[in-house]
Amino acid sequence: MRTADRAREQLVADLVRGGRVRSSRVRAALEEVPRHLFLPDVEPADAYADEAVPIKVAGGVTVSSVSQPSMVAIMLEQLDAGPGDRVLEIGAGAGWNAGLLAHVVGRTGVVTTVDIDDDLVEATRRNLAAAGIGAVVAVTADGSGGYPPGAPYDRIELTVGTGGVRPEWVAQLAPGGRLLLPLTVRGSQLSVALTRTGPGRLESDSVRSCAFVRLRGAGADPDTDTVLAGSGWTIQPAGRDAPTFPARVLDDPGADRPAACAGSVSDLWDGLGLWCALADPAVFRLLGPDGPGLAAAALPLAGGRAALGLAASDGCALLLADPAATVREFGPGGPRAADRLAALLTGWVRAGRPHSADLRLSAVVPELDDPNPAGPAPDDPAPDDPAPDDPAPAEPAADGPASVGPAPVAPERTAAAAAAAAAGGEPDTGALVDVAGTVLIPVWSPVPA
Ligand SMILES: C[S@@+](CC[C@H](N)C(=O)[O-])C[C@H]1O[C@@H](n2cnc3c(N)ncnc32)[C@H](O)[C@@H]1O
Repeated sequence: MRTADRAREQLVADLVRGGRVRSSRVRAALEEVPRHLFLPDVEPADAYADEAVPIKVAGGVTVSSVSQPSMVAIMLEQLDAGPGDRVLEIGAGAGWNAGLLAHVVGRTGVVTTVDIDDDLVEATRRNLAAAGIGAVVAVTADGSGGYPPGAPYDRIELTVGTGGVRPEWVAQLAPGGRLLLPLTVRGSQLSVALTRTGPGRLESDSVRSCAFVRLRGAGADPDTDTVLAGSGWTIQPAGRDAPTFPARVLDDPGADRPAACAGSVSDLWDGLGLWCALADPAVFRLLGPDGPGLAAAALPLAGGRAALGLAASDGCALLLADPAATVREFGPGGPRAADRLAALLTGWVRAGRPHSADLRLSAVVPELDDPNPAGPAPDDPAPDDPAPDDPAPAEPAADGPASVGPAPVAPERTAAAAAAAAAGGEPDTGALVDVAGTVLIPVWSPVPA
């Protein structure tokens, strides 16, 4: 057996053992599509490390990569595609995942993959040909508009990060079809699998944490990161209208109070950071270089430091990990912010420290949603076999609005409103609006007692 084949076998065995691969379909695809043929510049055996491999860099930023095998496996399981499906992939890269999808859908299915860059589409075609996979349509297109010529699709998978569920993707999905996308929700990138339950309605049944390069072109998200001038720190705000505070407050530490937990660095985006950010858009992540003082008390992250914070207009509070789990006040608004942050941390611990996998999202696309669905009257007997495109009944959020429709368009919550709803550290699972105008209703599930 050749080295590359042995390395691939080992990788797949590891992915099965780690629970990343669960179905025989995904396993067979990973076993039979040779990743090294999609990485012609990498030593064949090295192509089977469980790592993403950057393949295109622009302005010092990676804009394309061959994705990490464990993430690809997780997403293929979330997508749940099968023989005969029509699949659109947005973000071809070098074509590896498109090759896997072609294996999953078989001869009776169709895979279309698009990338915004011509050179990547050409490489995709070359690599797929080298792997002997002929049944993939690879096209240069800005996938923010989907790819109408191939619609409707049973499955649409984005392998590139976005801040919004765009109406074009939903409209191009067949009734009952699934949209899988790396979606930024209050600063956390989540791989969300959504089933289309009505013309403009989707429900998630699987959410995982992820980290993908960001969509470019017409649907690129506005950059919301803010550099705190002169401080070396960058703020990643959770909400679009989050308050900002002057950098100098970080030189003015106030009192410390013990926090219910310190969390780990991945918790900043996945566990407690996601919990706090959904409860209050004034939450932020603070990123900066390693160093003494404040940096030394933050969590280590890729050669730098990171901390979770909550902003007030004239101050903030930070969760620090060293020497113990501590919430520290900064500036005149610090005590207020520290009260709220400490309460949210306590709420997360009391709820059993939920992570992204415990989250469900409902999505309503106002322009596609039918405000007067011609469904059966409430007292009518349920049809035996309801049409898959019938609008699903609105599912009330645990402590959110009683109904999500029709077509609710609420502004991004203000910090004050969210703070009021989050009194006592419970999450505010009310609706929020993403950058594409889609209404998202997050619900922690199982709902904390
Ligand atoms: C992480 S890579 C894709 C990985 C790939 N699917 C694989 O099999 O490993 C993300 C890709 O999305 C592409 N991309 C970014 N913005 C895009 C857009 N608006 N439309 C289509 N592709 C886009 C990038 O050029 C990049 O190749």
